[in-house]
Amino acid sequence: MDTTSRSPVALVTGASSGVGLALTSRLLAERWSVVTLTRSPLPQHDPALAAARAEGRLRAHHADLADLRGLARALEGIAAAEPRIDLLVNNAGVSLDAPRAAASGRDVHFDVNVLAPYVIARALAPNVAKGEHRTILNVSSNALLQVKELDLDELMRPTRFTKLFGSYAASKLALSLWTHEMAALLPGGVEMRSVCPGANDTPMTRGAGMPGWLRVLVPILFRDPKHGAARVLDAARGGLPRGAFLHRGRPAAIPHLHRAREVHDLVASLAG
Ligand SMILES: NC(=O)c1ccc[n+]([C@@H]2O[C@H](COP(=O)([O-])OP(=O)(O)OC[C@H]3O[C@@H](n4cnc5c(N)ncnc54)[C@H](OP(=O)(O)O)[C@@H]3O)[C@@H](O)[C@H]2O)c1
Repeated sequence: MDTTSRSPVALVTGASSGVGLALTSRLLAERWSVVTLTRSPLPQHDPALAAARAEGRLRAHHADLADLRGLARALEGIAAAEPRIDLLVNNAGVSLDAPRAAASGRDVHFDVNVLAPYVIARALAPNVAKGEHRTILNVSSNALLQVKELDLDELMRPTRFTKLFGSYAASKLALSLWTHEMAALLPGGVEMRSVCPGANDTPMTRGAGMPGWLRVLVPILFRDPKHGAARVLDAARGGLPRGAFLHRGRPAAIPHLHRAREVHDLVASLAG
């Protein structure tokens, strides 16, 4: 991506660790300005982050994506402060070891992984339309390829739970489905895609939400999150189909694609 002519602006959610932090660091190194939206603070003792902060190229905002009211307030602030956003990356995501209710009463996997990215994309699409790259990327997962049945009621209010291949995988499928639908509706030449960052060694993949057999393989087989950041950025390149799900750098078939409008309309109605 050409970043030499001017300083483009990216918004990255979940920039406090893992892929989001690697992406933020890379963009800053390439002289982008980065607006972060995080729940936890960014690392305090990283010299590159500190330098970018001092230059005004790193601007931090905070919200818990499981609290949609707080999120709406943060988005109002960002929309006013950042009239032009070139690239929006909905990277924040969660994979837990059990269902957990968000402020809405729905499961956190749904509110954080499915609904919040929609709320963010919709609120900031006008700012993205004023940017140069005009791209929104939603960080999804190849776990979605394993979803045999998509039960939206079960996703919102689970009665059973399986690590990684249950609520998490279904939430990423729902994310890629609404992305496919919304991509066709966006005005102003804004492009939207979802992308799997590949297998990265991060707090999420080392965490309790991973099945034990896979967690032991993470330090051995999973890569530094800078590889995931590169995969995500690659999904912003030109010439890719609108609404595509990028897996290993290429558009991949999204299961249950005939349900894309239904998922989009559900998410749109819940977003208010
Ligand atoms: N790592 C992989 O192999 C892999 C594979 C496929 C897809 N992904 C996807 O890649 C993205 C990044 O994950 P990662 O692996 O880099 O994991 P990570 O290091 O755990 O990063 C997840 C980020 O999401 C944030 N987040 C979680 N819940 C939140 C909430 N309620 N409100 C606001 N922020 C919240 C976390 O913030 P806190 O620091 O406050 O918790 C953190 O910054 C996720 O969407 C994940 O599903 C990862």
